[in-house]
Amino acid sequence: MEQNKYALVTGSADRIGKSIAIQLAAMGYHVVVHYKNSRKKAEGLKKEIEGMGRKVHVMQFDFLQTNDFDRLFADLKAQQIILEVLVNSASDFVPSGFDDLGDTMLSKQIKSNFDGAYLLTKSFARIFGEGSIINILDTKVTKDRTGHLDYILSKKLLGEFTRISAVHLAPTIRVNAICPGLILPPEGKDEQYLLDLASGIPLQRIGSVEDIQRTVQFLVESSFVTGQFLYIDGGEHLAL
Ligand SMILES: NC(=O)c1ccc[n+]([C@@H]2O[C@H](COP(=O)([O-])OP(=O)(O)OC[C@H]3O[C@@H](n4cnc5c(N)ncnc54)[C@H](OP(=O)(O)O)[C@@H]3O)[C@@H](O)[C@H]2O)c1
Repeated sequence: MEQNKYALVTGSADRIGKSIAIQLAAMGYHVVVHYKNSRKKAEGLKKEIEGMGRKVHVMQFDFLQTNDFDRLFADLKAQQIILEVLVNSASDFVPSGFDDLGDTMLSKQIKSNFDGAYLLTKSFARIFGEGSIINILDTKVTKDRTGHLDYILSKKLLGEFTRISAVHLAPTIRVNAICPGLILPPEGKDEQYLLDLASGIPLQRIGSVEDIQRTVQFLVESSFVTGQFLYIDGGEHLAL
């Protein structure tokens, strides 16, 4: 890795995104921490990563409001911040289903979970031109369940875009996906919620952010790997 290379992790103030940012810092990257609402947590992470001897740039944007990432990346470049890794982890996980009226939720979920990653990928390619992109999907992309209909449609779309961009952006940019399973409970649920669900998957346990961190390290370091989807899900994608 060249000196002064940065990794941008979207939605990295907390939870899985935070663990990915810390992993990339441990691998030697300086980090661009992105948040939407969690400013204090983003500032806390900045201190933590600076304590690891890396530089940190914090940025705020909401995919529902912001779409000019060419300008944003050009500003970074002007400050000598050269992105080598982009991890699209930010996402909005909202239940919705077939009986809901209209398409407002679909539009919001596509904007939060697909459009942001799509636009950032294209700007990353235009402004920086080389490196590695990881899209965080969900093991549920393999299923056709409707409990989070609009969320899962947005993740399936990001999965298709992962494949298309892996081909289009080669050989200078590699694009891969991680599909987590039961890692952290969603808002309003506790670990017992995940443990109950775990009885229905092959490995019968939940995973951890360390499982995701190891996978990020593998994908960033594996220069002959592109277009892969890695299911970090205890075999959930194989279960009915
Ligand atoms: N948790 C799991 O076990 C699990 C399982 C399967 C897949 N995943 C995937 O793994 C990734 C990380 O999961 P997580 O549970 O850590 O995520 P999360 O806590 O649900 O969300 C991550 C961050 O995304 C940001 N965000 C939400 N909407 C946004 C928008 N419109 N514009 C910009 N940022 C926005 C929020 O930032 P602020 O807090 O700053 O507002 C939020 O903290 C996600 O892509 C998720 O779909 C997670």
